[in-house]
Order: sequence, then structure tokens, then C-alpha cells
Amino acid sequence: MISADFKKLISEGIPSVLPQVKPYDKNINHAPKRKDILTKTEKKLALKNALRYFPVEFHEVLAREFADELKNYGRIYMYRFRPDYEIKARNINDYPSRSLKAAAIMLMITNNLDVDVAQHPHELITYGGNGAVFQNWAQYRLTMKYLSEMTDEQTLVMYSGHPLGLFPSHPDAPRVVVSNGMVIPNYSSQDHWERFNALGVSQYGQMTAGSYMYIGPQGIVHGTTITILNACRLISKNSKSNGQMLFVSSGLGGMSGAQPKAAKIAGLISVIAEVNPKAIKTRHSQGWVDEVFVDMDKLISRVKKAREFSETVSLAYQGNIVDLWEKFADNDIRVDIGSDQTSLHNPWAGGYYPAGLTFDESNMMISDDPEKFKWYVRKSLVRQVEAINRHTKNGTYFFDYGNAFLLESSRAGADILKPDGEFRYPSYVQDIMGPLCFDYGFGPFRWVCCSNDPDDLAVTDKIAASTLEKIMKGAPGEIRQQLEDNIHWIKEAGKNNLVVGSQARILYADAEGRIAIADAFNKAVAKGKLSAPVVIGRDHHDVSGTDSPYRETSNIYDGSKFTADMAVQNVIGDSFRGATWVSIHNGGGVGWGEVINGGFGMVLDGLKSTGDKLKMMLKWDVNNGIARRSWARNDGAMFAIEREMNRTPRLVVTMPSIADDKLIDEVI
Ligand SMILES: NC(=O)c1ccc[n+]([C@@H]2O[C@H](COP(=O)([O-])OP(=O)(O)OC[C@H]3O[C@@H](n4cnc5c(N)ncnc54)[C@H](O)[C@@H]3O)[C@@H](O)[C@H]2O)c1
Repeated sequence: MISADFKKLISEGIPSVLPQVKPYDKNINHAPKRKDILTKTEKKLALKNALRYFPVEFHEVLAREFADELKNYGRIYMYRFRPDYEIKARNINDYPSRSLKAAAIMLMITNNLDVDVAQHPHELITYGGNGAVFQNWAQYRLTMKYLSEMTDEQTLVMYSGHPLGLFPSHPDAPRVVVSNGMVIPNYSSQDHWERFNALGVSQYGQMTAGSYMYIGPQGIVHGTTITILNACRLISKNSKSNGQMLFVSSGLGGMSGAQPKAAKIAGLISVIAEVNPKAIKTRHSQGWVDEVFVDMDKLISRVKKAREFSETVSLAYQGNIVDLWEKFADNDIRVDIGSDQTSLHNPWAGGYYPAGLTFDESNMMISDDPEKFKWYVRKSLVRQVEAINRHTKNGTYFFDYGNAFLLESSRAGADILKPDGEFRYPSYVQDIMGPLCFDYGFGPFRWVCCSNDPDDLAVTDKIAASTLEKIMKGAPGEIRQQLEDNIHWIKEAGKNNLVVGSQARILYADAEGRIAIADAFNKAVAKGKLSAPVVIGRDHHDVSGTDSPYRETSNIYDGSKFTADMAVQNVIGDSFRGATWVSIHNGGGVGWGEVINGGFGMVLDGLKSTGDKLKMMLKWDVNNGIARRSWARNDGAMFAIEREMNRTPRLVVTMPSIADDKLIDEVI
């Protein structure tokens, strides 16, 4: 399609003539049928809500069609209004716009809905089963139209995918402010989400789906590699391993599918259990899984051989993780590192397949007999924990990988609690990412080249590597390992061929690194070394952006981990320090009601004023969280914020005075 036609279609918004009905494309991965949760009165309300987007002359046709969608899929996606053009990231100049920044945001949105990137593209879900960019196609069309006509003196307000409208503002204000799934706290259960989403009034934005910042599998491969690498370092001192370390986990889905690839980059043998043969096929055909086993005995022989010959190899077991843990325990297979990445943030609707049922039996029972299915899930979790406990008694290091495994297992009554009521096992943030990364400000800094040109990406890789190498020269011992890992990563990044969709890259950096890299990019745009602006952002798996008591903030021990001031403050602070767009979400990773996370995007357009803004905003975006972690008495964070205060004029952070435990014990 030529650029002029594409521009016209974007500017059209809701078409004035009804488009043809679209056939349901069976070749596309579709969202599962959602729970039939609305009462008859509420169904009428959902329909009335959906029709709000259209002129009354369409209502007669659309009312019936949308009622069918609600009945058949549990949601009204407005399939008929899905555009005919290919939705994917394009060169920034291909988007119709009066604001360069708005065009960059359109690029990011279209990337999140690209069929090669999104999990359920026709249901506007980018990842995680329910991570939505919009609730329906009318919202998409209207949002793109608004972005195409807005100026730098307007701000677009997004309520859970719904574009409330363009409001007058000023050039330094964010161009878009997004909120997803924000509800009154007492109305934040899983079923509340089902109900509000079916009514068309709220959505689950996950982390980077509803904030337009998803960059395909690369982000998760990098994060998983860093986690596994550091887990190996953590245990290597006491490990009984002679030969390759063995990593066992579950899930070869959207994000979990990164585990075998990451384990291979980290140099381990991995065995990942997956019940869905389609998911295994995808990862195997991609080359992320080397070998697939259905027969457990053959798998065990293969593991022994890999260990004997010190092979680095990724193996998949087609079956249930519970059976795998049990069989490995019965056969004395020593597992060095264990985790779980079933989708337990969504335990009752297909996120976790219980042992004792086949994949197909589970899928039927989820809608036919949800209560019985819940019983199976709970029983399976109890068995899984029993088997894992047998392994950890023999030295396995097990960690929760941010999928609510510990939480749901405890709710299921599994033997997962210590006598003091704490979980037996740490979250990966408590042991690994928190003390090694987040407390020092290291987090998932990412960028997207708006030219959509791989050559620009290669230039940015070089700039990032040389910038970090310069920083490394004067870096204190506390952060050298993180810098080294990320310098190595960025130098190899091109070779890993992980770009899917937009020309994007990720690495972990602290405030100093993020600012120096962003500043160098901005200057390269100004000098024409990069052919178009660059968007910077991050996912929400970071030092400041996310309050998630069993994940990002699980290593906060002053009792404040159930508060969400940090995430809310973060977004407010970013928005008046120069972010191009900001977003705040309920949910993301661990489930609705379990986390608040915030994010930003910033367009580096080469202007000097942008250079000033990026410094101010990134400094806040990282140091807010370090200051909070320091106040919680985390050693690394106290070190990092003292260091920051020494080099940043006007930064004054309240430091904790550390009380003597003996004194506390004496008085209470
Ligand atoms: N902390 C992090 O950085 C991080 C990273 C990635 C994922 N996660 C979490 O991990 C979970 C998985 O994410 P995803 O995007 O891969 O989800 P997904 O739903 O795409 O994949 C999960 C996979 O697990 C499989 N599965 C479910 N039950 C199973 C069982 N009992 N045995 C074997 N396989 C089973 C499913 O078939 C599915 O393919 C989510 O809860 C996510 O939030 C956290």
C-alpha cells in the first residue's frame, strides 16, 4: 500500500460507510472465549456502550452483530472495523501527523498490534493472554485519527483503551496520558476485570501492551538471560555440580518461551515442560528449543548424557511440569536451578493446566465446569510444590519467576510457607534482580528507531556499547558486573537476531548509563548520524515503575511493599519532566489487583531542549525507586543514592537511621 493511501485510511477514523463483515480468520491465534459473566441487564449495557462509537444509522446492523460477538467470545471486539491495511511499524514519515511525537506514538501502537508481534492480534491483545492495547477496533481507529490530527498543544487522554479526547495543553506536556484498569481498590478482583472488560469500560494493559512499549521477544530474552546468569553466580559457590548446571521450569508460551534461549546463552542444560504441543512447535521451529521429548525415560537419559559431556542444550518435555518434577525426583536427577512460568496470574482461565487432565480435557472443563477445574488446579499445585520440596531438600535453588506461583500455591493450600508465614522460596527479585540490579538502578532501558531502518539500529548499538565502555572505566566495584554483562550483550545483540517488528533494542542500565546513551542518541539524531528520531522507554520491570509485592518490590522489607506510592509518583513525576507519553496500570504480569505499574515513552528528536528533558526525566525515573529502596534500608540502594547525591546538585534524599535490633528486641 502506498503511503498516501495509508495516511488517508488512518485519518478516516470510524468510517462513514459500514465496512464489509470480516470472516473469522482461523489461521490467526485468537483469544480464548471469555467467561460469560454479565447479567442480562449488564449485557444490554455492554451493547449500548459499544454502540456509542457509531452513528445511529449503523445501530440496527451492529446491535445484532455485537450481541453475537458478546455471546460467542465473551467480549465485543468489533471485528468488522479491523482495518484492511497491514498493521505494523513503519517509517515515522509514513504516518499522517501534525506532531512528530504523535507519529512516533502511532508507530509504537501499530507495532504492538502487528500480527508477527501480538499474541491475539485480532482481539488487540499483545501478550500475556489478556494484555490489551485497546478493547475494540473502534477505539483503535479513533485513537489513530486523533493522533494524526493532534498538535503539540494538545494531550490525548486514554481511559483503558478508550480515547476520551484531545485536550488543550502545551508543548512540554505529555502528548498522551494513558491509564489502564484503574479501579476503586475494593473492585479489583479477577471477576471485576472480567465484568468491566465485558462491559467495555476497562482493560488489562499488562505492562508494555497498553503502554505501547512492547518490543517482541527480545526484551524477555534479555531479562531472562540476566536472571539465569545471576542465579548461576549466586549458587555456584555452594553448588554440588560437577558438569553442566541443569535448569528446570515450565512454559514455552509468550514470555516463558524465552527460557530455553536464555538458558542456552547462559550456558546451561535446560528442561522446560509445556503441555501445549503448538507452543512447543513454535519454539522448536524457531531454534529456541533444541530437542523435544514426549517419553520421560528418553528425556532422563538425554539429560544424563548432556551432563556427562558438559553440553549446553535446551530440551522440551511435552507434558505437565508436575509429572516432570515428580519423575526427576524419583530418578534422583539433580536439578541445580528450578522455577515455573505457567501463567498463574490467570489460574482459572487457561493460565495453568493441572496434572491429571489432558490439555484438551482442561480446555473443555474451563468453560463447562469451572468449579471442578479450580479443584484440579489447586490439587495440582499441591502436588507440584510437594515434588519441588523434595528437590530443594537435595540442594535445588528454586525461585518464583514473577508468575504468582508462590501466591497461588499458598492459596491452594500447598506446603509453601515457613513457620513464620513467609514463603519457603524467594521471588527472583528478592535474591537476584532486587539486590543486584534494581537497588542500584539497573533496569530495562529500551529504544526504537523511528526510521524503521536496521542500519540505524546498528548505529545505536555501537553508540550504546561505546557509551557503557566509557562509564565502565570509572565504575565502582558494586556495579561492574552489571555493566560487563550488558556491554557483552549489546555487542552480541545484532548476532542474536531477536528483532521482530520495530527496530528495537534493550539493555539494562542505571540512571547514568540510560542518560548517557539517550543523550548520545539525541546528539546523533541532531547531527544526522541517525536518519530519524529514536523513542526511548522501558518495560515496567524496573527499579521505580512498579509496585508489585511478590515481584518488583518483593525485596522491600520495611512493610511498605503493599503500597503503590512509588509507581504513582513515578508517572506523575515523569509527566512534568518531559515524557512524551506516560501510562499507569492496574495489573501486569501478576494479575489484576496485585500490582500497579507505570511507564513512559520519550521521543528523542535531536533538539537541545530534549537533551535537557531527558536528563531531568531519566534521573527522576530511576532515582525515585532507589530513594524508596534506600529508605527501606536496602544496602545497595543506600550506596547508590549517596553516590547520586554526591554528583547531582539539588538532589536531597531522606536517609534512614538504622536502629540496633538488640534494642528493638529489648523493648518489644
Ligand atoms: N518476571 C518476569 O520477568 C516474567 C517474565 C516472563 C513471564 N512472567 C510470568 O510468567 C507467566 C508466563 O508468561 P507467558 O507470557 O509465557 O504466558 P503464556 O500463557 O503465553 O505461557 C505459559 C505456558 O505455560 C503452559 N502451561 C500451563 N500450565 C502448564 C503445566 N502445568 N505444565 C506445563 N506447561 C504448562 C501453557 O500451555 C503456556 O504455553 C506469566 O504469569 C508472566 O507474568 C514473568
